[in-house]
Amino acid sequence: MGAPGKTKKPAPKPRHLPGLTVSDGLIRHPFDLEFGVRTSGLVAGRHLRIGRQHDRHITAYYAIAPSVFHGLLVRWRRCRPIEPLDAYTFIDLGAGMGRALLLASQYPFRAIAGVELHPTLARIARRNLALWRAAGHTRPPMRFYCRDATAFPLPSGPCLIFLFNPFGAPVLRRLVRLWKQKLARNAGPIDILYVNDEQRDVLACEPGFERLFGGQIRRSHADAVTDRTILTHQPGAEYAAPPWEDCSIYRWKGSSQ
Ligand SMILES: C[S@@+](CC[C@H](N)C(=O)[O-])C[C@H]1O[C@@H](n2cnc3c(N)ncnc32)[C@H](O)[C@@H]1O
Repeated sequence: MGAPGKTKKPAPKPRHLPGLTVSDGLIRHPFDLEFGVRTSGLVAGRHLRIGRQHDRHITAYYAIAPSVFHGLLVRWRRCRPIEPLDAYTFIDLGAGMGRALLLASQYPFRAIAGVELHPTLARIARRNLALWRAAGHTRPPMRFYCRDATAFPLPSGPCLIFLFNPFGAPVLRRLVRLWKQKLARNAGPIDILYVNDEQRDVLACEPGFERLFGGQIRRSHADAVTDRTILTHQPGAEYAAPPWEDCSIYRWKGSSQ
């Protein structure tokens, strides 16, 4: 029973996010149709503001093309990770509805974690993860956190951080400062996979990071056609989908180098 005089507040209604319904131009990605999950949609950054500190730096919600994700993982493995893959925790900062987490779960990572600021996207992601587990697709343990990326303490041990252009330079700069504190305490190696790396200068200007790769990762033909179709139908034609993503890979080498 609740405290006298207090009535239990009804649960807040889920927020309707423009860009997630068919009337907003939504077209389901073949990944969703194949696996029965919900990761499609394009939500402009301005619709994801809910009064949090870093709201104005949110770019948009859009899920990674599976072919770009796998292409970048191939590149990373060619960069000779310091530890075996099964020692790494894969962390998606700005995980949206969790497509990158589902894709990562096909690799033998030690664990997988997603961090998303917006509660509606986080709720959908949790449902996707549950469906994925129930279908027996996932190998590593998966956790999801609804919070600001800067409030997520990196776990101990090797980390592979995934960024699909989630936020602007001020948030990335803050994260780098936080990671450096962790690394100063001799935590495991950190590699960063950065897709649509608009703020790459933040990492390039930090002497502790070495750039291992910088270049374009092409979408498969099927992904290119799908993303082009989806983005052609977006109201306002705000975002573009070239046949590739500009990507980079960074490794923390330590401040003294
Ligand atoms: C381009 S989407 C990427 C989605 C997902 N990583 C994927 O590849 O499918 C970027 C996401 O970052 C989230 N985001 C932006 N700023 C954030 C912050 N400070 N903390 C956590 N998430 C954030 C946005 O809400 C959005 O869902």
